[in-house]
Order: sequence, then structure tokens, then C-alpha cells
Amino acid sequence: MPKVKTFQHVFDKDTVYNLNKLESDGYIGSLIGPVGSGKESYVFLSTDYKGRKVAVKIHRHNIQSFNKIPVYLRLRGSKTGGFLKKIDDWSRFEYNFLEKAFNIGVNAPEPYRLFGNIIVMQFIGEDLVPARLAIKDTDFDVDSWYTKLVGFIVKMGKRGFIHGDLSPYNILNFNGEPYLIDFSQSLKLTSLTKEFLIRDIHNINNWFSRLGEKNIISEEKMVKSILVE
Ligand SMILES: Nc1ncnc2c1ncn2[C@@H]1O[C@H](COP(=O)(O)OP(=O)(O)OP(=O)(O)O)[C@@H](O)[C@H]1O
Ligand SMILES: [Mg+2]
Repeated sequence: MPKVKTFQHVFDKDTVYNLNKLESDGYIGSLIGPVGSGKESYVFLSTDYKGRKVAVKIHRHNIQSFNKIPVYLRLRGSKTGGFLKKIDDWSRFEYNFLEKAFNIGVNAPEPYRLFGNIIVMQFIGEDLVPARLAIKDTDFDVDSWYTKLVGFIVKMGKRGFIHGDLSPYNILNFNGEPYLIDFSQSLKLTSLTKEFLIRDIHNINNWFSRLGEKNIISEEKMVKSILVE
């Protein structure tokens, strides 16, 4: 298994420092993977000092075109700081929203630790194999998933926040259950961000219409049930 040190030539020195800190504090061990990578992050599998399997999401410090960050940080009320601070703020917002969702009973990885640009959370998968994205693994009960996902949207909305990037690319199928991941675009629900709630509902409704769901709840009805009360 490659030790964190091996990554000195892959990651910038701040990321290596953060990885070493998490390793010496026991939150992560050797990194395996990446088990996932996106435009803005790598996700590795590791094991913590308790022997729990953990997912380690590292937001890249070296990305050139992180255009949406300033817009989101402004919507979130955080404006200051250079590029590295912005990435750290970005990671902190993601971590906080993941924690909120997990704490109210939304199926999501349990958050364990945030340090700089790195999020350590529950690994959703079996043995060393991560659960597959819902876009690739459609072996699930359509009615039950629709009910659960609408339930998650409404629950988060009533608590005043939205996932912000809900799609089958950010939902894992873990033993037939939906798990929401990637809260990097989550926002507080306000009049300024209501359009992002509507976008989430729209994405889920379109996806489930294609899957043949008969009881689609209209955007208006869902928004009303969140905003009324
Ligand atoms: N907790 C987890 N357990 C297992 N696999 C995970 C976990 N979190 C993320 N992954 C895997 O890593 C991939 C990338 O994660 P995520 O969607 O959070 O980041 P991203 O796509 O880089 O973010 P962005 O959408 O901002 O580019 C996911 O598609 C998934 O396959
Ligand atoms: Mg993603």
C-alpha cells in the first residue's frame, strides 16, 4: 500500500502537510486509489486508527479554472482570502453541509474530520470496493428511491438548506439504498438560492420520469411544502 509520503510528487506541499497531519493524528492511514476523481477533487480509500474504512476527499489546490468558487462563496457570505483559503473555505462549507444532512437523517457518508482542503468521511462501499454511482447502477426500486429522495430534499429544505447538485452522478447505490454525496455546492435556502432548490427538484423529477416513475410530485407542490410552515 502506498504511504502518504509517496504522494509528495503528486500533491502540492500544503496538501502533503495536511495529509501528514491527518495521518499522524490517526484519521487516515495509507491511501488506496483514487476510488473516485472529479474536476475538483480526488477521493481515496483509507483506514483510520479505529480501523474504520474512510473516504478521503482532497480538493485540489492546483486547479486552474475554479470559476464557480467566487460565486458560491459570495452566496455563502465568505469573500476574503487568497486562492488556498478559498479552497479551504470551500471544503469547510462542504463538510458543514454534509454534517447537517447526516445529522438530520439523510443517507450520506458520516463526516469524521476536516483539515484544510481534505474531508475524511465514512467510506460507502463493501470491502475495498466503493458503491457505484446511481447513473451506472440502476438496480434499485424506482418508487422507493423516488419517495426517499423527495423526502431528503424536503427534509433538507425545511432545515433551510439544499444539496445544490443533486443528480445520479452524486448519488451512490449502496446495497439498493440511495446515499447522497458531494455537498460541495450546497447552499442555505434563501430567496436568492431558491432557483438551486428548483434545479435539484427538476433534476430528480426528470431522472425519475425517464425511469418510469408514475407519481411525480410537481416542482410547485414540493417547493410549497418546503416553504410553507
Ligand atoms: N464517501 C464515499 N464513499 C465512497 N465513494 C465515494 C465517497 N465520496 C465520493 N466517492 C467517490 O468519489 C467520486 C467523486 O466524489 P465527489 O462527487 O464528492 O467529488 P467531485 O465529483 O470531484 O466533486 P465535484 O462534483 O465538485 O467535481 C464519486 O463519484 C464517488 O465515486
Ligand atoms: Mg460529484
